[in-house]
Amino acid sequence: PQEHTLALIKPAAVKEHKDDIMQKVKDAGFTISKIKEAALTREMATQFYKDHEGKPFFEPLVTCMTTGPSVIMILTKENAVEEWRQLMGPTDPEIAKVTSPESIQAQFAQDILSNAVHGSSNKEHALRSIECVFGEIDID
Ligand code: CMP
Repeated sequence: PQEHTLALIKPAAVKEHKDDIMQKVKDAGFTISKIKEAALTREMATQFYKDHEGKPFFEPLVTCMTTGPSVIMILTKENAVEEWRQLMGPTDPEIAKVTSPESIQAQFAQDILSNAVHGSSNKEHALRSIECVFGEIDID
């Protein structure tokens, strides 16, 4: 069965590595079911990351995510949630460089806050984030 996940290239990485990251997405065999380039508003970023509210990096994270356009995609593939997380690699690029040198975070992230990409952590989050960014849409 096909599965959907929400993938996002963050503002700093859009500026510097968009083409390289898009190439990796295509090489990995994902179908890009929907794509848009847009800057998140503070309201959207707060909603998008509400599970992290209260953490010390929450405000810097919201600021980082609203500094410029992100590339926001619905990726579709069998086991898409898990496979996109594999391709992203660990959140912290210093860890990614050691454990998954071919991953996107290892190759293109600046640091743990301003890392290169985001991906839903499970199917339920995927549905919620897709709705948050694209509204209620019929993907299938
Ligand atoms: P992301 O996968 O988009 O989900 C939450 C984000 O918070 C994460 O990527 C990082 O950008 C940021 N983040 C998570 N942990 C930390 C941390 N310890 N310090 C700074 N930023 C973090």
